Amino acid sequence: MDKKELIEKINKIKKQKNAIILAHCYQNIEIDFVADFVGDSLGLSQLAAKTDADKIIFAGVYFMAETAKILNPAKKVYLPNISGCDMADMINLKQIKEFKAKNPDTPVVCYINSTAAVKSECDICATSSNAIEVVKSLNTDKVLFVPDKYLAKWVEKNLPDVQITAYQGYCPTHYKINADDILNKKAENKEAIVLSHPECKDEVIEISDFVGSTTQMMKYCKESKNKEFIVATEFGVVQRLQRDYPNKKIIPISNEIYCPSMKENTLEDILYTLENENNEVKVDENIAKKAVNCIDRMLKI
Ligand code: 13P
Ligand code: SF4
Repeated sequence: MDKKELIEKINKIKKQKNAIILAHCYQNIEIDFVADFVGDSLGLSQLAAKTDADKIIFAGVYFMAETAKILNPAKKVYLPNISGCDMADMINLKQIKEFKAKNPDTPVVCYINSTAAVKSECDICATSSNAIEVVKSLNTDKVLFVPDKYLAKWVEKNLPDVQITAYQGYCPTHYKINADDILNKKAENKEAIVLSHPECKDEVIEISDFVGSTTQMMKYCKESKNKEFIVATEFGVVQRLQRDYPNKKIIPISNEIYCPSMKENTLEDILYTLENENNEVKVDENIAKKAVNCIDRMLKI
């Protein structure tokens, strides 16, 4: 089957089954041809919370599909490939319990990039686009933040009155980006604006002009009068910016900055899942009951 036929077939079955395809902007770019929504983790969870489709095919990683399932216990959620997030897998149920026991009586904020089990032990969720507002909303002078130590540092930089005790997780993809990579690109492109994701190391954040989630970076690029941008995040965002703004110079750090888990899904996999309804994602009922409070509290902000 050629790509055009594949896309037509997916779109046809999607309608027949009243299914929706949600895709993260780190996915292979061809998935945008069949996706009903492409965006960042916050946008995806907001959409998952209000969809009236019967089935959700999640082109993303495991924690995203789990979040969609927790928000829609009566719907069927599928992940074309069971791919995890390396950062989310850096903390499990036992480790979050130990972390809380070591730091008692402190509200716990968990990055949405965490398992349902970890969310069930936390007070409120956050994404890279709203972590500062989430922590501010707690009106507290100390919080625990899991699992991303770099996102925690970014929040602390913006809220210096809040003492953040961070779990020591990180994203292996963003970890590969160094300040020197940015400075070298900047030396070749002196007018370029540096956009970076808050999962980047603090040495990268410190020399960035704008820090935000993937959607926020894309919005910044769209609205800016500037013509050149150095993009410090996963390659999927670079490709979408190059596609959407051909008159702007979008400069990647390197083609090697890609998340292997995010790149697993193909159009063929999506068609297979639509047809065969394989890889349904389920969440333990007791875990889901506790985790939903953590996600809902964030969505209300
Ligand atoms: P956002 O979708 O919030 O930009 O986060 C990026 C990410 O790493 C998702 O796994
Ligand atoms: Fe997880 Fe990093 Fe991949 Fe996002 S880019 S899914 S944080 S490993």
